[in-house]
Amino acid sequence: MPQTVLILDFGGQYTQLIAKRVRKAKVFSQVLPFNTSIEQIRALDPVGIILSGGPASVLQDDAPACSPEVFELGIPVLGICYGMQLMGQVLGGAVLAAKNREYGLQKVYLHNAASLFEGLPDHLDCWMSHTYQVEHLPAGFRAVASTSTCPVAAMADEKRRLYGLQFHPEVTHTQQGMDMIQAFLFKICGCKGDWEMADFARVAVEDIRQAVGEGTVLLGLSGGVDSSVVAALIHRAIGDRLHCVFVDHGFMRLDEPRMVEEVFTRTFPVTLIAVDAADRFMQKLKGVSDPERKRKIIGAEFVAVFRDEAAKLGRLDHFAQGTIYPDVIESGAVPGATVIKSHHNVGGLPKELGFTSLIEPLRLLFKDEVRELGLVLGLPHEMVMRQPFPGPGLAIRVIGDLTPEKVELVRKSDAILREEIAHASLESDISQYFTVLSGIRSVGVMGDERSYDFAVAIRAVTTDDFMTADWARIPYDVLALISRRIVNEVKGINRVLFDVTTKPPASIEWE
Ligand code: XMP
Repeated sequence: MPQTVLILDFGGQYTQLIAKRVRKAKVFSQVLPFNTSIEQIRALDPVGIILSGGPASVLQDDAPACSPEVFELGIPVLGICYGMQLMGQVLGGAVLAAKNREYGLQKVYLHNAASLFEGLPDHLDCWMSHTYQVEHLPAGFRAVASTSTCPVAAMADEKRRLYGLQFHPEVTHTQQGMDMIQAFLFKICGCKGDWEMADFARVAVEDIRQAVGEGTVLLGLSGGVDSSVVAALIHRAIGDRLHCVFVDHGFMRLDEPRMVEEVFTRTFPVTLIAVDAADRFMQKLKGVSDPERKRKIIGAEFVAVFRDEAAKLGRLDHFAQGTIYPDVIESGAVPGATVIKSHHNVGGLPKELGFTSLIEPLRLLFKDEVRELGLVLGLPHEMVMRQPFPGPGLAIRVIGDLTPEKVELVRKSDAILREEIAHASLESDISQYFTVLSGIRSVGVMGDERSYDFAVAIRAVTTDDFMTADWARIPYDVLALISRRIVNEVKGINRVLFDVTTKPPASIEWE
């Protein structure tokens, strides 16, 4: 068991960033819901606990709270934003609405005698986002930082090793925030910082062996990075007792079904059953234009196909999925978080499938960590570095109702985009890029003829974690070439748009 820092999640938008920062410092971190029982927390034997921020107010009746015994375990606790306010309130201080709501970068004056701030300058710009603040300190605490309107911007009880930060050290805008996190981990919690992805792989393989016993596993393999890494991991744990089912729902990119079959039968010998279910999916989606309904129908149909395949294979005991942490967060599976999109691969194990358990070994990993794990497991570099592709595939890249013809338009334009990005050697500069068939038709001229065809949009983003993203600055001449090729080669498209929106407020996908 590696030294673990637990992060109790109060539904804050930066919780996953905290986990990432801790892991970047080579300390294993695990995110658990805020209401995890104290017995479960003790069983994990953490060396420290971080309480995340969150959208609630500690003053509301149903305010999310962790067990108060968290503060009596004798291990260091760091409360961030809501986490600090909760700590303040539970330990007998007072939290009130601030006179001035602070949002954005604020100058924070630090008392560098505090162990969290040792060696740091006496003031730094820090990222604040709060309406409430600790007004009266609990007994044993002192204020160790302030802003012009927030007298307790940080608090510390060095004796009990309890700390609170009203600002967000995990956000890159906070100057030297990583130094504060490292001070908490190394100086205060005594972490060694020796956690490696190879350790994660070893532990995950062991966990899978334990969970599966002598049983068998069915894995839905999409060919994307996540499910490929899961396949590698489970294969390492139980060998040919892993059965992979690859469902081609008809919404894959050009040539993808063939490529998946090839990689998984040649370079990586798993038992693979490929199912062509394109007609089946299209039947179910006929006339459906609402994005959430599309996702739900696709999710349900996946389950139906798996059920059919499982029935053909005879008894298989466990069901595995490549769910990763951002899917979990965005689906609202963490209590306190808001549902943004239904990810078809989150939602628990459908009981009627008759499996004894659901295996999701990547549930706590971020995309870049999944890639690192893939490399550790020996998967080919090209496969591991591939851009992400959503489970519902091109179905959510055709805006509005679906027809096979529209899917073909987005597939062909996407193939051109990918080809030209590769020619321009921009693949590694852009995190994700694809085309979207907008629902807009517009007038154009082609030769001497009037056209009334669809507009396709190019979406290209740069991002570390896919939770926030910037639009990629593709050079104009590359855009010009892509646009020219698409309107010339894809009959039915007469206009090309370029999406210049960040996430937030837009999401990466359009649906
Ligand atoms: P959004 O659109 O939410 O996308 O900003 C963030 C990342 O998630 C991918 N995505 C999905 N992946 N199943 C998946 O496996 C899904 O239903 C799904 N929806 C979005 C998206 O491509 C981007 O990388």
